[in-house]
Parts: sequence; C-alpha cells; structure tokens
Amino acid sequence: MHRPRRLRRSPTLRNLVRETKLSPHDFVLPLFVSEKIDNRRPIASMPGVFQLSIQAIVDEAQRARDVGLQAILLFGIPEKKDEQASGAYAENGVVQKALRAIKRKCPEIVAITDVCLCEYMSHGHCGVTRIDGDHFHVLNDETVDLLVKTALSHAQAGADMVAPSDMMDGRIGAIREALDADGFDQTGILSYAAKFASVFYGPFRDAAESPPQFGDRRSYQMDCANADEALREVALDIEEGADIVMVKPALPYIDILWRVRERFGKPTAAYHVSGEYAMIKAAAEKGIVDERATVLEIMTSLKRAGADIIITYWARELAEWTRN
Ligand code: PBG
Repeated sequence: MHRPRRLRRSPTLRNLVRETKLSPHDFVLPLFVSEKIDNRRPIASMPGVFQLSIQAIVDEAQRARDVGLQAILLFGIPEKKDEQASGAYAENGVVQKALRAIKRKCPEIVAITDVCLCEYMSHGHCGVTRIDGDHFHVLNDETVDLLVKTALSHAQAGADMVAPSDMMDGRIGAIREALDADGFDQTGILSYAAKFASVFYGPFRDAAESPPQFGDRRSYQMDCANADEALREVALDIEEGADIVMVKPALPYIDILWRVRERFGKPTAAYHVSGEYAMIKAAAEKGIVDERATVLEIMTSLKRAGADIIITYWARELAEWTRN
C-alpha cells in the first residue's frame, strides 16, 4: 500500500513547502509624535513604545527604513486640545510638522497618517459632539468636514497615504473628492473600514492621550457581534474610493479579515492593536510565553488569514526576525 510522505517531518523540506512567509515588507510601524516632549517618553501600558518629539520621530523613521520597513503610521499628540480639534488640521500641527521633517530626511519611507479627531478634541471623541441632557451625539457631517480638512493638510505636508480611523459615514468619498480637487490624486486612502468598538484600544488611549471624557465610542465604532455589517462597511468604503481596507483589532476579528480578503480581493490590512500587544508583553515579562515565538505565530496567522499588510508595534523587531 502507498504510504503518503509528510514533508513536515524533515526540517529542510518543511521550509520548502511553507505556504505563508513573512518579510519586513509585511509590516507597518505606528509612531506617536508629541508636541509636549523633548525627546522620548515611555508609555506605561505599552512597554517598548514611546511618545516621540519631532526630532526623535525623524530618527525613528530612519531606523525603520534602515531595518527594511517600507511604511510608518503617524499619530499626533498636540500641545492643546479644543472643541473643534483645530490642532488636527493646523498647517503647523504636530503631524504636519513631523511629516515635513520626516520627508526632508527620509523621503523614501511611506508616510501614512491616522486621520481622526480624538487626540485633538478636549472631550476625546472622534468627532464633533452635541450633548442633549444625558445623551451625546457625534455629528456626522460636521465631523466629516473637519476630517476632510485634516486629510488635506496631511497630504499638503507630505503624507503618501491618509488613514481615516473615525468611522463616520461618507468620509472616504468626501476625502477622496477633496484630495483629487486639490491635485493629490496620487495620495492613497487606507480606510479603517471595519473598526470594532474594542477593549483592546485601552493602552493606545494612554499613548495618544485620547480617552473619551464621557460616554464611549459605541455609537460610531462597530459591535463585536456583527460580521455581515463589517462586510457592508467595507463594501461602502471601497465604493467611495478606499485603496486599502483595514480590519481592526486583528486576532479577535480574524474571521472578518478572511471574509473581507476573500470577498473583495482588495489590499487588506490588519491592525494588531495596543491591547493585543500589551497582553503578550505582559505574559512574556512573566515568563508565561516566549515573546518572539508568540509574535511570529500571530503574524503568520494574520497573513495566512488574508492580511497583505499588518500594522504592529513589533514591526521593527519583526523586520529583523524575518529578514532572511
Ligand atoms: C483613533 C484610533 C484608535 C486606535 C487607532 N486610531 C483609538 C480608538 O479608536 O479609540 C487604536 C490603536 C491601538 O489600540 O493600537 N480613533
């Protein structure tokens, strides 16, 4: 009787038939630039991640390029917040200044910017809010107007791609139209298309100093129970002009990632978020799991499930671990 051979029994042949291979080009490094600090400041809930000054972020961008990463994702922490999020679209806002500085020193790195208002709003919500009694509303269209201004100012400062993370309706189409009208038809849009309301964003809100001062984000971010709705969200964003669609968080939503990649065949990104990062860091620090092996297994799973691009706070280490 013919007995099937299993290549995985041989270490060398195992690699030959490996279906999913990681490389530095799979990863995007998120970076936090703050107007309030001089050099770098550690983020307590995210060991190994720092808020950076403009000078420090330029150095980080160069380091990212030197280890073989193609792209970074920028978040800004302004000196002052207000009710109009004016720091988000100021010509000399923190992200705009950082972009110009990065592009001067390191023009070849792809600079993607998070387009959202929560870091710039005194109340920490992702949009313009109105309070009626004990309810609050996020005003969709007023918010979209400010997001358009923000995206445009990022493009003018040198962003290669803008990444709206707010989950307002119609923002992708509005941003696309404004970019095209201003001559930025080459500027791409990475849409946070299926962004779930998640406890896993907790540490990020420390990092970006953006926890909501009242209420929560469930009126604009998605319910973790809904998969078909996620597909509808992605379809709308593609129709409106998204170039890359993102699922966020990553591992708890790996089924969504798979379905999005299968259904639409668009470049698809997964955001392995702050809480996912912090959990593994904490377990590794206690000696419960091996950090590198855990991270490599998770990233391989995300890529196998359909991620063309993975945004992760381990991007720099991953570039080193996956170079050969
Ligand atoms: C801004 C934004 C958030 C994240 C990315 N962009 C926070 C939020 O929606 O509360 C989370 C990223 C992470 O947790 O690593 N809206």
